[in-house]
Amino acid sequence: MEFVKLQLEAPLAVVTICRPECRNALNRQVYEELIALLCQVEAMDQIRVVILTGAGDQAFAAGADIAQMVAQDALAGRQLSALCHRAADLLENMRQVTIAAVNGYALGGGFELTLACDLRLAAEEARFALPEVTLGIIPGGGGTQRLARLIGVGRAKELIFTGDRMDARQAENLGLVNHVVPGQELMAACRALGQKIASRAGYAVSLAKSAINASLDIDRKNGAEREQDLLALAFSTRDKQEGMEAFLARRRPVFQDF
Ligand code: COA
Repeated sequence: MEFVKLQLEAPLAVVTICRPECRNALNRQVYEELIALLCQVEAMDQIRVVILTGAGDQAFAAGADIAQMVAQDALAGRQLSALCHRAADLLENMRQVTIAAVNGYALGGGFELTLACDLRLAAEEARFALPEVTLGIIPGGGGTQRLARLIGVGRAKELIFTGDRMDARQAENLGLVNHVVPGQELMAACRALGQKIASRAGYAVSLAKSAINASLDIDRKNGAEREQDLLALAFSTRDKQEGMEAFLARRRPVFQDF
């Protein structure tokens, strides 16, 4: 892999977008490598949490590669958008928990990748925007779909119609970012949160992720049904027995299902 690096620190995996000379801009190859790598990681039983970040201290990712897009026609644009969606859908739906470590600019497609992660932690220096309308296009990696669900339609429309930038505190106030920390503490904060999540029953966490995601896509009644079915599935696991017996015996549980 040339532009996306994987560091395995089981139970964590750190995935880094590496094109620092152009603020980690996302060209086709970056998306293809990211998709291939996320598919690999999803198959790894020992990995419970994926931390996605950008190389250097300037940018998480400054969006799709404008130098590549400038020469592209409608079909190529559509294909690029499909790739962005595929990467975002993987982050959103993979069985591992995904954390965006936003270390600088998260613009356009970069912002959209963070929106697809389960959790977002930001450095104080982080900046977020969907500036596509300043380039004559619209967000194509799920921004028009996911942002409104996270912060409401009115706020999402203002950000997308203006292309305005938001700093980390503004993003936190909107509920977009879980925590803001000094830049040099960002990866440690992500690892600490990742370790805490990884210490819980892994299969139960993935079932909870699936149930919460379903609540965004299906109506309340079917969502409630899904929750009950997934809870029943959790009752069938060794971890349920272990977690409850450990509680009653006043000892630490040793979880194994994933
Ligand atoms: N695509 C291609 N190249 C990009 C890029 C992008 N999205 N973002 C930055 N770069 C390149 C610049 O062209 C520049 O290349 P050069 O050194 O060969 O001239 C290099 O990265 C550094 O960028 P620069 O603008 O000089 O850095 P900066 O720190 O002053 O500003 C940004 C950083 C991210 C604010 C600014 O580069 C920017 O606004 N980028 C475009 C963001 C955008 O519109 N993304 C949405 C795409 S749909």
